[in-house]
Amino acid sequence: MKKFLLAALVAASMLVANAATTPIYLDESLPIEQRVNDLLPRLTLDEKLAIIHAQSKFSSAGVARLGIPTFWTDDGPHGVRPDVLWDEWEQAGATNDSCVAFPALTCLAATWNPAIARRYGVSLGEEARYRGKDMILGPGVNIYRTPLNGRNFEYMGEDPFLASQMVVPYVQGLQSLGVSACIKHYALNNNEHERHTTNVIVDDRALHEIYLPAFKAAVQQGGAWAIMGAYNLYNNQHLCHNQVMLNDILKRQWGFDGVVVSDWGGAHDTWQAIHNGLDMEFGTWTDGLSEGAKNAYDSYYLALPYKKLLQEGKVSMATLDEKVRRVLRLMMRTTLATRPRGSMCSNEHYQTARDVAAEGIVLLKNDRGLLPIDPARHRRILVVGENAIKMMTVGGGSSSLKAQHEILPLDGLRQRLEADGVTVDYARGYVGDPTGEYNGVTTGQSLKDDRAPEVLIAEAVEKARHADLVIFMGGLNKAQFQDSEGDDRKDYALPYDQGRVIEALARANKNLVVVNISGNAVAMPWRKQVPAIVQGWFLGSEAGTSLARILVGDDNPSGKLPFSWYERLDDCAAHSVGDYPGTKRANENIWDEHYREGIYVGYRWLDKTKRRPAFAFGHGLSYTTFAMSKGKITGQDGNYTATVTVTNTGQRAGSEVVQLYITDVKSSVDRPAKELKGFKKVHLQPGESRVVSIDITPDMLSYYDASQHRWVAEPGEFIARLGTASDNLPIALKFTY
Ligand code: GLC
Repeated sequence: MKKFLLAALVAASMLVANAATTPIYLDESLPIEQRVNDLLPRLTLDEKLAIIHAQSKFSSAGVARLGIPTFWTDDGPHGVRPDVLWDEWEQAGATNDSCVAFPALTCLAATWNPAIARRYGVSLGEEARYRGKDMILGPGVNIYRTPLNGRNFEYMGEDPFLASQMVVPYVQGLQSLGVSACIKHYALNNNEHERHTTNVIVDDRALHEIYLPAFKAAVQQGGAWAIMGAYNLYNNQHLCHNQVMLNDILKRQWGFDGVVVSDWGGAHDTWQAIHNGLDMEFGTWTDGLSEGAKNAYDSYYLALPYKKLLQEGKVSMATLDEKVRRVLRLMMRTTLATRPRGSMCSNEHYQTARDVAAEGIVLLKNDRGLLPIDPARHRRILVVGENAIKMMTVGGGSSSLKAQHEILPLDGLRQRLEADGVTVDYARGYVGDPTGEYNGVTTGQSLKDDRAPEVLIAEAVEKARHADLVIFMGGLNKAQFQDSEGDDRKDYALPYDQGRVIEALARANKNLVVVNISGNAVAMPWRKQVPAIVQGWFLGSEAGTSLARILVGDDNPSGKLPFSWYERLDDCAAHSVGDYPGTKRANENIWDEHYREGIYVGYRWLDKTKRRPAFAFGHGLSYTTFAMSKGKITGQDGNYTATVTVTNTGQRAGSEVVQLYITDVKSSVDRPAKELKGFKKVHLQPGESRVVSIDITPDMLSYYDASQHRWVAEPGEFIARLGTASDNLPIALKFTY
């Protein structure tokens, strides 16, 4: 007994001693604000300045003497970027930083499945933790305003509600690992053309109804700990230090308590950086991303120039302390928190990649039920196109990765089909971009082919004549101007004259499938000659496996387009009334871009102008069929529930997305014919029915009243429209508010 008492006394004294020596700022049992209040006064001026700007390409300083670790950021939204040299963009040549490349965010958006978005965030967070990263520079939620935007593949489509619903669980999943999200690029960075010098002019209503909701949801519902200022300008101020967007809207109106991080090279002025909301400055002293003095960190705007103004008494210490508080809060949530260890390249992460692809790939067209492939009927398959053999995980800009592996579409199909005795032949069809390198990461592929286009087409056509099924795999490829950061596409057509190859194949064999791999819509003037079309996205490490599973029918496609697929570019508002890409000022390197279409983006514009897209927002087919009951609406005073029964009327299991759009029958302002305000994805066995209910609340009925600076829901008649695509809404339920 005595021994026990002695041991207990010793343990208790150690606890007391320990409690006495653990400083408050490290005591995780205490509220974060209390810990911040304890830590802030312990910092010297130099330490305060050091933690609000970069010390290397992707890290900012900790405070060694207080045991506060260095803070590490890394790209990107689709996987954890390979480590780079201290001051460089070039990769460091490590051999332990190959990752899982997850499907691009347009594919995630196309799943219309918030639960899988959370899984995506968790898997990415685990890879980031294992790699020692405290912040992932993503996700991106800039609205798809033009199909030419080079970075749409990193974003979540044209509709603010869909993007909001999908970004929140991604952020929550990522941050559940103690890895900060960094929502980007806030805001109005809707094209890459002149991205550092474009001044966006947009009305308040469009700003709040279209371009801000996903950022607001990520902050208020997702609880994002950081947000990245965009390169461009709004109200003639760069977004990385912008009074209206950062101080007024983000911090004051939305209550954002996290950190505003500059995009790399996005800060341009010390006074503005101090006073207009910037909290952490990265990538400065670069001409955007490539040049700059070595070790320029002391000359950052928030470094010695800031210290000088403080010492001269020209700026207040309170403003600095507010920045430091936010950074310390971020540290309490990450580097000073007890966090899971994470994991990398696990089977679970590869399964997440496959599941996102399986639910995000969109079956756009399937005449004659040509798909899925039937190994009994389709014994000789020909695959044509460079995108069947080209790695897509390398390139495209900062989201480029060093994948542990990337299963190519042709290989995935062969692995899946040759087991069934199916022969899968290949013809190049065209040569697009035979290169494969980004920041020192190379694909190792040799795709060089000097044959003339006519020879390539002739070979493909000759082989097509003897095939049971032909699968053309083309699209874009993240090469410059082909869905990549820093530049927009130069036109809407498929590059490398792919249309000519497709038309020749269609003449040679009526059993033609086109798989388009891209982050953007493309012109499809040949689509009436092609019985089956699949939107394949940039799918990452498991691209080949995922595409094969969909094409063979192991997975039943359930993806729905997160953007409108215009027939022609001038069907897009940004290109008909919207002033894309803007006009350069006479004697200043600034481009003014007027978003003249206002709120009429995507299907909102097509409804207003009665134009029909090639494929509608929310469109996507299945290998099974579904039926919906008449539907009913119950409730009162603006709180209603719309209910419909969905039945799988086909022979195989599948998923359908019930979409709810709201129409304000009569309004004092011009409003879109309908707006997406709810959706639910259901998985049903053959013959199974499910009652789907979607709640309607007053906020879903409201519009942003720019004169009152607030959202307003006017009393009156409304219609809840339900269906499975923005152009397939057979159910109209009237109600009043
Ligand atoms: C780039 C991108 C941004 C990225 C950052 C760091 O310029 O705009 O998305 O996270 O720099 O690579």
